[in-house]
Amino acid sequence: ESTLGAAAAQSGRYFGVAIAANRLSDSTYATIAAREFNSVTAENEMKIDATQPQRGQFNFTAADRVYNWAVQNGKEVRGHTLAWHSQQPGWMQSLSGSALRQAMIDHINGVMSHYKGKIAQWDVVNEAFADGSSGARRDSNLERTGSDWIEVAFRTARAADPSAKLCYNDYNVENWTWAKTQAMYRMVRDFKQRGVPIDCVGFQSHFNSGSPYNSNFRTTLQEFAALGVDVAVTELDIQGASPSTYAAVVNDCLAVSRCLGVTVWGVRDSDSWRSEHTPLLFYNNGSKKPAYTAVLDAL
Ligand code: XIL
Repeated sequence: ESTLGAAAAQSGRYFGVAIAANRLSDSTYATIAAREFNSVTAENEMKIDATQPQRGQFNFTAADRVYNWAVQNGKEVRGHTLAWHSQQPGWMQSLSGSALRQAMIDHINGVMSHYKGKIAQWDVVNEAFADGSSGARRDSNLERTGSDWIEVAFRTARAADPSAKLCYNDYNVENWTWAKTQAMYRMVRDFKQRGVPIDCVGFQSHFNSGSPYNSNFRTTLQEFAALGVDVAVTELDIQGASPSTYAAVVNDCLAVSRCLGVTVWGVRDSDSWRSEHTPLLFYNNGSKKPAYTAVLDAL
């Protein structure tokens, strides 16, 4: 195959990209994105601050720009993200307790109803665990509403759009030996045992010198899949863009039948949130990097 998306589709998977609405007018960017990928995640446009800037006033202008571009170009869409401690609008940051809990529920209902039946996977909850060795939840205004906020978010999401796969998404959870990975595993196992509706786990996979790729990532994907959830690589970027590391991540996904696909977190290095890491598959001029060829060959 000649594109990443077509190659991934040969095994029933997708190869996706994070899209920024304000870059779609850049023809180099839009040409590569339209040609190479068959899944799209909005890099920022479906987040809480973007979709509900004022309480009760939803705004899907930028989100719909990404969504409509994706659909017009034949791509499926991953929704990102509904309940998160970060990129909350000011009004939500200042809420607590039952008012915040209700605002979270209202937000999930408002966004999911707008896209009902149109989103393949939703990242319902993002980044709820703490880094380091504690295995604890991250402290946040949402966590302080009661640690059942995550299951409430998933139950709300299932009712709002029964057709979407509901994912929990996090970073630094790729290495099977890390406490954060084990804490997330215990939560998913508990949800499956108690019937809390969860369908998938997203592994962001922002690999860098502080949290490098480890070959036990395949074990992680296998162990989660064995709990009865799908898995996905949702925000892949690799500091330095080592071709062999990119190929290893792709091969890890391909080795796990429940791995739905891989999403890279941007098109060219200059589009990356960590552009100084030159972590992506395309040079700033739009030409393919060695990591691109390694990924295409692996798929
Ligand atoms: C990042 C975006 O790439 C940046 O443009 C923005 O300034 C901050 O958020 N984990 C996530 C993503 O789940 O939403 C984050 O995206 C990167 C880390």
